[in-house]
Amino acid sequence: IKVGPLNGRHVIVTSGPTQEAIDPVRYISNRSSGAQGTAIAAALRDLGARVSFVTGPASVSPPDGVDVIPVETADEMRDAVEAALPADAAVMAAAVADWKIANAAGKKMKKDGSGRMPVLEFAENPDILAWVSKLRKRRPKLVVGFAAETDNVVEHATSKRQRKGCDWIVANDVSPGTGTFGGSENTVTLISADGADAWPRMGKDEVAQKLASRIAEALK
Ligand code: C5P
Repeated sequence: IKVGPLNGRHVIVTSGPTQEAIDPVRYISNRSSGAQGTAIAAALRDLGARVSFVTGPASVSPPDGVDVIPVETADEMRDAVEAALPADAAVMAAAVADWKIANAAGKKMKKDGSGRMPVLEFAENPDILAWVSKLRKRRPKLVVGFAAETDNVVEHATSKRQRKGCDWIVANDVSPGTGTFGGSENTVTLISADGADAWPRMGKDEVAQKLASRIAEALK
């Protein structure tokens, strides 16, 4: 346990992609590496927080010194966040799949030789950020979401903050040429009730440290 401004505080961090089953061997997912969420969990730990790290199948390893709660689907991630409550803050950095497969098969799907292709039906996944933001009794004092935008970043992230009901949105520009996806650097704007604070381009670890110290300030 580290000594720091977040001693005695509990923070939930979601990270990584989710995987939504098509059948017992196949799934749909996305390219999230979990790098930014992992860095945030480590930075919060370094400031002394107890961290519940709810992670989908990420390509980077979870940090040491946090409670790792591995999940696969969005439904499991929502349930894991609920089970980890109460918390002082929640940081939703996961790339949750918007849809799951409504007609997922219980057995491996087979080619039947007829030439007919399977048809996947989709159903909406729970929006974990919106759900946790709207909790009445157990809402964390500070709820932070992310927004990956390609255009009008501040405008879109500001309306996302209102729609989802979270306190802050960490917005980043992921348009082609920024190198944010899969890269080690990020250019973010922190959107809060006070407006938009554009941070200079920096490493994802530095983004995590700066965000963690802002969280510590907000919980003081
Ligand atoms: O709506 P959009 O996916 O752009 O919102 C991104 C933010 O919402 C991220 O903080 C992400 O972790 C969160 N989110 C969520 N559950 C979903 C979809 C997004 O928690 N089903």
